[in-house]
Amino acid sequence: MTPFRTFAMAALMVSAAAASARYVPESKIFLLETAHASYVFGVNENGALQNIYWGGKVSRAADFPPAHTVPEHASFDSREGMSPEEYPGWGGMQYSEPCLKVTFGDGVRDLALRYVSHEISTDTVTVHLKDIGYNFLVDLVYQVFPANDIIRRQVRITNRTTQPMTIESAQSAVWHLPPGEGYRLSYLTGRWAGETQLTREPIHPGRKVLESRRGTTSHEANPWFAIDAGGTADEEHGRVWFGALGWSGTWKMVVEQTPYQKVSVTAGYNDFDFGYLLQPGESLDTPPFYAGYTDGGFGESSRILHRFLREQILPDHANPHPRPVLYNSWEATTFNVNEAGQTALAEKAAKLGVELFVMDDGWFGQRNDDHRGLGDWYVNPQKFPNGLGGLIASVNRLGMKFGLWVEPEMVNPDSDLYRQHPDWAMHFPGRPRTEGRNQLILNMARDDVREHIFGMLDQLVSQNHIAFLKWDMNRNFSEPGWADAPGGAQKEIWVKYVNNVYAIIDRLRAKHPGLEIESCSGGGGRVDLGMLSRVDEVWTSDNTEAFDRLRIQDGFSAAYAPKVMMAWVTDVPNMNGRGTPLKFRFLVAMMGSLGIGANLNHWSDADFALATQMIGYDKEIRQTVQQGRLYRLASPAAGTFTANQYVSEDGHQAVLFAFLQAQQLLRPAPTVCLRGLDPDALYRVRTIDDKLADPRDTISGAALMNRGLNLRLVGDFDSTMLIFERIDR
Ligand code: GLA
Repeated sequence: MTPFRTFAMAALMVSAAAASARYVPESKIFLLETAHASYVFGVNENGALQNIYWGGKVSRAADFPPAHTVPEHASFDSREGMSPEEYPGWGGMQYSEPCLKVTFGDGVRDLALRYVSHEISTDTVTVHLKDIGYNFLVDLVYQVFPANDIIRRQVRITNRTTQPMTIESAQSAVWHLPPGEGYRLSYLTGRWAGETQLTREPIHPGRKVLESRRGTTSHEANPWFAIDAGGTADEEHGRVWFGALGWSGTWKMVVEQTPYQKVSVTAGYNDFDFGYLLQPGESLDTPPFYAGYTDGGFGESSRILHRFLREQILPDHANPHPRPVLYNSWEATTFNVNEAGQTALAEKAAKLGVELFVMDDGWFGQRNDDHRGLGDWYVNPQKFPNGLGGLIASVNRLGMKFGLWVEPEMVNPDSDLYRQHPDWAMHFPGRPRTEGRNQLILNMARDDVREHIFGMLDQLVSQNHIAFLKWDMNRNFSEPGWADAPGGAQKEIWVKYVNNVYAIIDRLRAKHPGLEIESCSGGGGRVDLGMLSRVDEVWTSDNTEAFDRLRIQDGFSAAYAPKVMMAWVTDVPNMNGRGTPLKFRFLVAMMGSLGIGANLNHWSDADFALATQMIGYDKEIRQTVQQGRLYRLASPAAGTFTANQYVSEDGHQAVLFAFLQAQQLLRPAPTVCLRGLDPDALYRVRTIDDKLADPRDTISGAALMNRGLNLRLVGDFDSTMLIFERIDR
């Protein structure tokens, strides 16, 4: 070997070590690496792209054989169909879930994608695939976030034939797990006022479909999954593969185990009622599908997703800041808003330490109840004779920012907008227009509707000092007709609607850089990584009852960070008739981004004193809760005791929240062992009450994590919080 060659190889090795995406020409494999995981795929002997490995980190390329199709088992299973393709088109003997299904302009419905070329940079690989016959191109884009332990996959589908063609199913990716049995699936389902309920169940042969057919992400299922090996993972241990789709429209996630023990997860646009017409030269992009792997159990899989959300997805990811303490008027005043009433609430909120005052529904048009007004986004002159200016000035004078509720995608039939533009509401000609909460949904896929809504919001924000919008969506699609769709592409409504909602938010934010947005859809009906790349927080649930919230928030935290989880303290008894102490309600809400949604006119002096104290605590710990690492110590789903712990990014502060639902037979609350601390460090302990059984000024990390703490939680709905500050010696 010449000296030059040795030098060149050394240089190559250095750059290869730094890169998180590599191609090995000899074996035609691609190696994607994050801090703790590897993802490997390659071009097989037929030119098809095939998955090779996804799991714990293996950096040595020579450890991976080239991709190859498996030998034929039986005439009922093709070799190709049984080999785990990276992006299988429906064609040949392909019987498992395809990523792409098309009808070409001449009626052919067979697709066989083959490798053409690729581009690679430090962290991104784009692989160009093409059908064996038609000039039909598919670009697979893999982006690696090495420090975040996440890989993002997205696909661009392009028609370069000379005829229009129809895309019948377009999935973002399929993630293949190492072949085997005994996997267990975790997923989130729910309904209005009961979102993000976590289910774990064994994966059996066949397909499990999680989906939304509602035009939006939905309360009923959330596009997130976690799969653990052997069904044995817990919060701290076990191999877990997990992921989430970034799409706020109809979506589908298929978890499949084939008869040959191959387990995979495919997700993208829901193919139900799907039909995307691609004219020659046109492209369709799929939503991004993010995934990761950890051997640190469910707790670590959540922490990876939380950190990824904060560091790569959220609008403030480059310069993160804690969410402000918010007040929202909805549960206090419902539609009965006016300048005097809101100003009185604002004065009280400001005294508590609230930083952002949000006026909810009822301020516009003839909106005195939910039967009318949606669509008429002018300020109601009876309620606000001086416009919004007077209220906003008062709120600002009190040292708070002002936020406003809007529901731009909707129209009440009893509104000026509907009377002017009945054709703008989604409908099929001559068919009923089904109302939900007395409202219809505007066809946001239409460019004229998009422009109207953008203009309205832009004007509202330009003419008023509005720092924050709560963007609501209080029903799902029905009769998704679009009779005059360009080119007759009616079914594109499912995709174009969402892209236009995204476009409006993107334009608004670009034009008004200080504006922040909360995504709400009757609570948590539109929570996903697509929306979260555009909004600062989400409304978790219309169910604000604190004990129910423990379960909803626990499930939410499986996939999404506490920072975006807006949580209000509201009055009792709440919607389910349950009453809990104000302290309990505060501590539940402080595990997310704190808001107050109570009627402050009804609060006693003692309530104000406690609330002021709790908001003060919140400001001390919110950086840790919102930007830190969450350890779920005891789940509300498992028993009557719940405990969550948060550790700041720098490890200097930790916060423990503990809740006892109901004490029986005078049993003491269980000992709580903390996690994620430095065993050798000493921590100063701060209590907010007398619930620590054995109070001490300082305690070692080892004692906190091994011996644990005993808490004197008694009776029903008792709670406490402890703050630990690391002492630097
Ligand atoms: C939805 C929201 C609530 C509130 C009402 C107003 O239900 O989730 O928080 O804004 O609409 O009508």
